[in-house]
Amino acid sequence: MLKIGVFGVGHLGKFHLNNWKEISGIELVGFYDPSDEIANEVIQKYQLTRYTDPAELMDAVDAVDIVAPTTHHFHLCEKAIKKGKHVFVEKPLANTMEEARQLVKLTNESGVKFQVGHVERFNPAFQAVKHLDLQPHFIEVHRLAQFNPRGTEVSVILDLMIHDIDIILSVVKSDVRTISASGVGVLTETPDIANVRIEFNNGCVANLTSSRISMKKMRKIRLFQKDAYIGIDFLEKKAEIIKLKEEGDTNVFAFDIETNSGTKTIAVANPPVPEVNAIKEELTAFRDSILNNTRTVVSEHDGLMAMDVAHQILEKIGKNVISHG
Ligand SMILES: NC(=O)c1ccc[n+]([C@@H]2O[C@H](COP(=O)([O-])OP(=O)(O)OC[C@H]3O[C@@H](n4cnc5c(N)ncnc54)[C@H](O)[C@@H]3O)[C@@H](O)[C@H]2O)c1
Repeated sequence: MLKIGVFGVGHLGKFHLNNWKEISGIELVGFYDPSDEIANEVIQKYQLTRYTDPAELMDAVDAVDIVAPTTHHFHLCEKAIKKGKHVFVEKPLANTMEEARQLVKLTNESGVKFQVGHVERFNPAFQAVKHLDLQPHFIEVHRLAQFNPRGTEVSVILDLMIHDIDIILSVVKSDVRTISASGVGVLTETPDIANVRIEFNNGCVANLTSSRISMKKMRKIRLFQKDAYIGIDFLEKKAEIIKLKEEGDTNVFAFDIETNSGTKTIAVANPPVPEVNAIKEELTAFRDSILNNTRTVVSEHDGLMAMDVAHQILEKIGKNVISHG
């Protein structure tokens, strides 16, 4: 049995507890959370042991799951790595670039498994298309959420847009050439809405809009490439592929378009989306990478790369931010 300790059992931490309980080969040893109110709630609901010393819980487990606020990621991760414990940490990897670089260095030196909670990689809608030959020329991203004070200790870039940055970096395997960005702080001191254009060395352009002050929710990525349009709806868990119809295409809706070079048949397909719980999938993948000694699906390096782009965006926005009042 792989022994796990959970650090931080607030909103997301409880989802983690629910999922760990359903994953085989796991022994949930206990949790650490400084809030008595939250801890008592968890003891009652989960009959789980509360540790009041984080080091003691770390000593009792093989791996830690850190779901504490981002400002606490670094010191908890550092302590766990130094004790030789495998680490799963929520996104973003750390609060500053210096902290993130230090965690990558410590992980490489220690050889522990390290996974960052970029959970959208495990979203079933992305799972449905990620095996395709994805070579987008341009990408449109919209991630809109209603306002919620949770998470607003950081900007919308580190809170929401970082999910899309990680997905895009996993799809466009090219270095970032330039970034332009603009943001507006409406309800908080940091940007609550932002628009960003990322140009990659291979010519791909990604245009991202994130808002946490929207009236409605949306989480969509649209990839446009030479032979296809691929739409991924992370919220509704749906995917759509539109392309020129080829021989052998089945289960597609097809229609004709007249062009100057003749009739073209367009095929619209909705690939099957697996009915999976993304959090359970990511935690199971972390378990497997420890048990099978394989690379984690979202490594510390991936976490650093996403943060690097996010911080470049924040630097650009620093020059372009429009603050309310
Ligand atoms: N992957 C995602 O989609 C996603 C979604 C939401 C939040 N998150 C991330 O998860 C983390 C937690 O977010 P949340 O929404 O659950 O916040 P939350 O405020 O609901 O919960 C955080 C919990 O951590 C506890 N805590 C504070 N200091 C601690 C410490 N030093 N050690 C252990 N626990 C400590 C708090 O008492 C609280 O119970 C953040 O890093 C956030 O960015 C990720």
